[in-house]
Amino acid sequence: MTTEERQRTMLITGASAGLGESLALACARKGWRLALGARRVDRLEDVARRAREAGASVFAAPLDVTDEHSVERFFGESEAALGVADIVVNNAGLSKPGLLHESATADIRREVETNLLGALFVTRRGVAALVSSKSRGDIVFMGSDAATFPRPGQAIYSATKGALEVLCTSLSRELEGTGVRIIRMRLGPTVSEFAAEWDLSPEALEARTELFRRFGTRDARHLGTLMQGEDVAEAILFAVGRPPGVVIDTIDIYPEAPLGNAVKGLR
Ligand SMILES: NC(=O)c1ccc[n+]([C@@H]2O[C@H](COP(=O)([O-])OP(=O)(O)OC[C@H]3O[C@@H](n4cnc5c(N)ncnc54)[C@H](OP(=O)(O)O)[C@@H]3O)[C@@H](O)[C@H]2O)c1
Repeated sequence: MTTEERQRTMLITGASAGLGESLALACARKGWRLALGARRVDRLEDVARRAREAGASVFAAPLDVTDEHSVERFFGESEAALGVADIVVNNAGLSKPGLLHESATADIRREVETNLLGALFVTRRGVAALVSSKSRGDIVFMGSDAATFPRPGQAIYSATKGALEVLCTSLSRELEGTGVRIIRMRLGPTVSEFAAEWDLSPEALEARTELFRRFGTRDARHLGTLMQGEDVAEAILFAVGRPPGVVIDTIDIYPEAPLGNAVKGLR
């Protein structure tokens, strides 16, 4: 039986919206067990209800990844309900665009604590459960192309996602021989609520696009040509579905450049 065919238990942080929600629903359609955590319980319950209707066994509870006690409680309760998660997805994350020298301390802390410290707390607990139970498993990191194309105006975010890159490399070495695989996702722009609090006025979009262009990022990385959450979910399911002995280390996934930009008349 390949890993793909087995029923898996996936724990997703930040499952109340966006990519976490898309991934939860994609796994639900496979009948997997799901441990879903986020801070907004009403939104989370709605995702949990739809996942159950699609065929999943679901544990859903409040989770704040920046709080180690919340992480411990969430893992403990989800293990009591569903058993040890053999896939942990570090998905919770956020970004507030702006220049570092104009950023408030609270905003810097929030971004670093959610994107980096939270992933460390969650991964520590998830790996400990896998190693102590001698179970195979996958730890997925929802990284960003901001790590490979560090962006002006998103320095804090780029730094946190860059740190996750290094963390993935260290961990994959640290966990050699344990059966725990590290999967690094590098996503380009995807439809979600990620930019819900950003200034998306035409002027702000144009200014950001121009800034990106000046620093050599490709057209496809501009807002306006986004992937769907399902595209990312499919890529993750492919990676975690590889049989023992095979590792998908990194997935770079981003929107295709708009047709017509370089080659006219393709469709
Ligand atoms: N969308 C993109 O274009 C894109 C590109 C590259 C990488 N990513 C990465 O993909 C991941 C998911 O982002 P998204 O696009 O799906 O954004 P989103 O729609 O804003 O969803 C973010 C999720 O994170 C949760 N969250 C935030 N802070 C949390 C905390 N302290 N504890 C637990 N959950 C928390 C939110 O739930 P609550 O508010 O209910 O807690 C929400 O469910 C992030 O790591 C992001 O950096 C996204």
